[in-house]
Amino acid sequence: MRSARPCESRGDRISVSSRWGWGPSAIEKKTFAYMRILIKNGTIVTAVDHYKGDIVVEDEKIALIGTTLEMVADKVIEASGKYVLPGGIDVHTHLDMPFGGTTSADDFESGTIAAAFGGTTTVVDFAIQYRGQTLQHAWETWMKKAERKAVTDYSFHMIITELTDQTELEMDALVREGVTSFKLFMAYRGIFMLDDGSIFKALLRTATNGGTICMHAENGDVIDVLVQRALAEGRTAPKYHALTRPARAEAEATHRAIALAEMADVPVYIVHLSSAEALEMVTEARSRGLPTYAETCPQYLFLSYDNYEEPDFEGAKYVMSPPLRDRAKQDQLWRGLKFNDLQCVSTDHCPFCMKEQKELGRNDFSKIPNGAPGIETRMSLVFDGGVRQGRISLNRFVELTSTSPAKIFGLFPRKGTIAPGSDADIVVFDPNRTMTLSARTLHMKVDYNPYEGRQVTGATDTVLSRGRLVIENGQFVGRPGSGVFVKRGTRS
Ligand code: URP
Ligand code: ZN
Ligand code: ZN
Repeated sequence: MRSARPCESRGDRISVSSRWGWGPSAIEKKTFAYMRILIKNGTIVTAVDHYKGDIVVEDEKIALIGTTLEMVADKVIEASGKYVLPGGIDVHTHLDMPFGGTTSADDFESGTIAAAFGGTTTVVDFAIQYRGQTLQHAWETWMKKAERKAVTDYSFHMIITELTDQTELEMDALVREGVTSFKLFMAYRGIFMLDDGSIFKALLRTATNGGTICMHAENGDVIDVLVQRALAEGRTAPKYHALTRPARAEAEATHRAIALAEMADVPVYIVHLSSAEALEMVTEARSRGLPTYAETCPQYLFLSYDNYEEPDFEGAKYVMSPPLRDRAKQDQLWRGLKFNDLQCVSTDHCPFCMKEQKELGRNDFSKIPNGAPGIETRMSLVFDGGVRQGRISLNRFVELTSTSPAKIFGLFPRKGTIAPGSDADIVVFDPNRTMTLSARTLHMKVDYNPYEGRQVTGATDTVLSRGRLVIENGQFVGRPGSGVFVKRGTRS
């Protein structure tokens, strides 16, 4: 299944030890010297409050929070003028994922390093059960991909592509192991797509095992007809990816997913919601009191259909599913974020290089690997476009990027907040530092950035992952393999 990543063969693809100039022993010394860390004079921000204070971290946990703590510490981090945030939680990433005849360009090492640079300290990635395989096999495969590589903590959702009686039993077993959510696809027939009967059975199963179904909601059969028609008419450019995946196909599937979940009497979580039309379905369901949840992603807030019109083959950079939508309707997504019809901002980080990967579809948009990078830019983009532009409050920013994902996916209160006893996943964030986003300076292993040249204000300075320094004043000081698998809880 696995194929090489073209980016790895590029001269500028660098390993952790060469890029930051340390061999493993030097990194060990830097990383594990501190038993007690004191973070002083910052503004501590959670989903519900913000106040000036100091934090004492002991080993992996937050031990103490106070107004002025004069403690002896192995390390003092001065955070005056900075926000001290709970580490970001990105519940939608695809690291080391075989897809579209190639493999996503970031593995668990480069992906979690990039995540940490961007202020994200936990990722929930997707393991894939391919047809004919067991869920157990898929889980073990993805655990192997992550161990010894991840620099921050990680967990998994399980993608189910075939549902038998045995699979249902395995769902229960996985929930007991802390893999408590499952992604199902209503699109990509022949690869990932499940029929409505199987989707309904999986939803019913979560009613008894406490798991959560995450739905890729697009009407795959309608899309396939539109794609075949476009190709037959010689319409092969990247923009036809968007033109053959209408917002109504997303809205219809979203409505169907909600209806199936309602009949099964269970919650459902809609992933990568991109359109105002699909959001209307979620809003309507929530107004009826249904436990319907949804995430959107920065690309749907900051990029738009216009990007597909970029000349030559540049539109391929933005080929993802669902596709980018009308800029005029983005305000409705922001409104959804503000008023809690959307509960999370995740990234759907699924990077493919232009060279050798996106290029696979130069003459046929349907062969362009679907996905784009975003794991490193999420927090700064949402802070800049959301908080600084007055669209959401600072607390809501923390809620959308950390607390709410933690609550929905069984990580709270271990993660997702700053409180005594919680994991010391902490980000010192400078609300006034401006940076220019560029593939040249970001750390994702991909040869372009969808936001190239965009200026954002608000950037991560220092990051702790379970009490270990991972980023210090903008430099990587972590160690691959120090991230651990996190067992998640069930719905409460
Ligand atoms: O285009 C996308 N979104 N690629 C990743 C796979 C998925 O559907 O999330
Ligand atoms: Zn999806
Ligand atoms: Zn995805």
